[in-house]
Amino acid sequence: MEEIFRKEDRYMKNMFWSDTIQGLEPYQAGEQPQDKAYVKLNTNENPYGPSPRAQEVLRQIPFSDLRLYPDPESLKLRQSIATYYGRSVEEVFVGNGSDEILAFVYMAFFQGKRPIRIPSITYSFYPVYCNMFNVDAVLEPLEDDFTLNLDSYSTDNGGIIFPNPNAPTGRAVPLEEIRQLLQRNTDSVVVVDEAYADFGAESAVDLVEEFPNLLVVQTFSKSRSLAGLRVGFAIGNADLIAGLSTVKDSFNSYPVDRISLEVCAAAMDDHDYFVECCEKIKATRERVSQQLSSWGFSVLPSQANFIFVKPPAPITAEKMYLQLKEKGVLVRYFHNKPGIKEFCRISIGSDAEMDIFMEKMSSILSSVGVV
Ligand SMILES: Cc1ncc(COP(=O)(O)O)c(C=O)c1O
Repeated sequence: MEEIFRKEDRYMKNMFWSDTIQGLEPYQAGEQPQDKAYVKLNTNENPYGPSPRAQEVLRQIPFSDLRLYPDPESLKLRQSIATYYGRSVEEVFVGNGSDEILAFVYMAFFQGKRPIRIPSITYSFYPVYCNMFNVDAVLEPLEDDFTLNLDSYSTDNGGIIFPNPNAPTGRAVPLEEIRQLLQRNTDSVVVVDEAYADFGAESAVDLVEEFPNLLVVQTFSKSRSLAGLRVGFAIGNADLIAGLSTVKDSFNSYPVDRISLEVCAAAMDDHDYFVECCEKIKATRERVSQQLSSWGFSVLPSQANFIFVKPPAPITAEKMYLQLKEKGVLVRYFHNKPGIKEFCRISIGSDAEMDIFMEKMSSILSSVGVV
């Protein structure tokens, strides 16, 4: 029996609200508490600052230029992204965070179609957009080791979307499996959300040439350390990009501001700094994974800038989250998500931050005699 996700009507009605938002359960972003300074390992931000070259560009932006609207076509930034990936500018779309682009994807390609297929454990914004845009979804079960099995995604669907690596597990699927899915599934749009791909997964961008129904979505928030600017991008066939632009121009002509256009273009051009930061995060990820495994944690192999871990008994994931928070370290615990309540997601911070995390973790474990 397929598990189908459908909109629920569980929220109190408000007479002034539209029917669309009456039943909406909004996405819950990771907490951003203001009560004290935390080592923040709960929202997958990048511990290393944005590119110094981008900072230099920011300094040179004339303040008075902010009286002018930005370029509605975002051409300079789209050109930088196109050059970096060896695509044409018509194959690149930019938006106000990849979340906005994902919303446009639902409007442009999924709404009014048959149910889409998404993983049963995945980025929680996908079901939220299902509710928002009245799209049903078949939830595809994960394997026991939390890998995605794309075999069945191609059966009857109005679209397919999954992150690679998946969130919040960090597990990636090989490019070859995505290619095979695209070969089987030619009649609907396949969206690969590569928010974390730069930390170790194989990008599907090169498949865009071959498959006109493939859209790859990426972000400046993670590997390029610009979460505060809110810029994402998508690469796909020019017809798909035109579909996204049609939604954009019917919604907000200027989703990317003047500062973001300049700063992100400079960040895209600073390849060396980008590689250096990603490599540091990957090295820290391996070091922390090894330490946690040696303490008896189950650590899923991650290709992202976070790890998904199950602590050894008698520590539960909830206790781990609460006790770390008390000690000033924030990790993400998904208390209301079936199938992953035994796990915490830990973002990879700087080496110094991860040392603090491991010191606090070790004291929690030794208080119950685990180490
Ligand atoms: C899988 C996935 N996709 C997309 C996003 C959205 O990123 P942004 O809107 O910052 O570009 C996130 C953010 O955490 C994510 O985890």
